[in-house]
Amino acid sequence: MWKKIFALFIGVLVGYWLIDDFNPDVLKGKRVVVTGSSTGIGEQIAYHYARMGADVLVTARRENILKQVVARCKELGAQDGKYFYKAADMVNMSATKEVIQEAYNRLGGIDILVLNHILPIPLGMWDGSPQNLTLTDKVVDVNFKAYVHLTSHALPHLVASNGSLIVVSSLAGKIGQPFTAVYSATKFALDGFFGALRQEFKLKGCEVSITLCVIGLVGTENAIRGLRDYGQHFLLAKLPAETPSDTALAIIKGGARRQREIYHPYISIRVMTFLRDWIPNIVEYINRSMFTVPP
Ligand SMILES: NC(=O)c1ccc[n+]([C@@H]2O[C@H](COP(=O)([O-])OP(=O)(O)OC[C@H]3O[C@@H](n4cnc5c(N)ncnc54)[C@H](OP(=O)(O)O)[C@@H]3O)[C@@H](O)[C@H]2O)c1
Ligand SMILES: *[C@@H]1O[C@H](CO)[C@@H](O)[C@H](O)[C@H]1NC(C)=O
Ligand SMILES: *[C@@H]1O[C@H](CO)[C@@H](O)[C@H](O)[C@H]1NC(C)=O
Ligand SMILES: *[C@@H]1O[C@H](CO)[C@@H](O)[C@H](O)[C@H]1NC(C)=O
Ligand SMILES: *[C@@H]1O[C@H](CO)[C@@H](O)[C@H](O)[C@H]1NC(C)=O
Repeated sequence: MWKKIFALFIGVLVGYWLIDDFNPDVLKGKRVVVTGSSTGIGEQIAYHYARMGADVLVTARRENILKQVVARCKELGAQDGKYFYKAADMVNMSATKEVIQEAYNRLGGIDILVLNHILPIPLGMWDGSPQNLTLTDKVVDVNFKAYVHLTSHALPHLVASNGSLIVVSSLAGKIGQPFTAVYSATKFALDGFFGALRQEFKLKGCEVSITLCVIGLVGTENAIRGLRDYGQHFLLAKLPAETPSDTALAIIKGGARRQREIYHPYISIRVMTFLRDWIPNIVEYINRSMFTVPP
């Protein structure tokens, strides 16, 4: 009797986990803004949305690369798909307003805002040098403050469309990681800010969804180069990297389902975040053991 009930329970659980109820058609005609979309995961996010029939505005600093991304979206997307770019540096808070204004003017509204950009910085120990402090200010502005400003400018449009905010974070935003102290801090800050905002939305009956994406190692050029340049050959050999395209798809699906958080790759990231409050020393040890201190 109990064996049967247990088997049924496991069956339902596994079945639920295997069912992919995502229907790309729900994204047809959606008006989407993706930040940090000239390369890496953001670029792939733009391509997937284009394939699914959404209209997209891409933004990053390098205009010439954004033009190429828009051209590729046109190849992948529908005949009547609309694709635009706006070059902007997210260290500059007035530029965050211009990006949203441009998106609203071009797309006629905003349904989905994907906050994804980060300032690429070399890995390193934080020893409190003047150089570390200067970089801290810039990283906090680009990786955290710009997210808050972009959200603030886009909020009226997202409220009007019952839209979605998708915030790309990292395992480093749930468990502190060596050689990326300030990056980790900005990702934790996003969890705090958007966690509080979600609470306020529920209190106000605001229908805008917030999806925090907790992702592990992804094989983007910048991530791999950063680890290699800092001698992290052990980690690169031991830890399988996800592809930018698969990661982008997982992010888009989570947003479309209006999920609270997504984990990618699911099992390893879920287990680590699940255990971090119970056995933090062990979880941190496992993570730390992947890294090596360069000579
Ligand atoms: N790759 C991983 O292993 C990994 C793991 C966990 C989480 N994530 C998260 O996934 C997201 C994307 O990562 P990724 O690896 O795809 O990064 P990436 O390839 O380095 O791309 C970063 C993007 O941000 C843009 N950018 C950089 N500085 C900017 C600035 N000051 N103003 C505006 N745009 C700026 C870059 O374009 P321009 O240079 O043209 O400005 C680029 O489009 C990030 O939020 C990251 O934290 C990545
Ligand atoms: C910041 O952006 C605004 C608007 O795009 C621009 O007018 C201004 O010159 C920029 N400031 C800096 C320091 O680049
Ligand atoms: C901090 O500054 C030192 C120089 O004092 C440098 O070697 C190290 O890479 C810097 N760390 C970060 C995270 O930038
Ligand atoms: C947003 O949701 C509210 C409440 O569920 C609904 O009344 C309204 O029509 C929706 N608006 C749009 C644009 O979907
Ligand atoms: C440890 O941290 C790295 C860097 O963020 C991450 O990609 C990796 O998944 C973590 N390793 C483990 C075993 O959790």
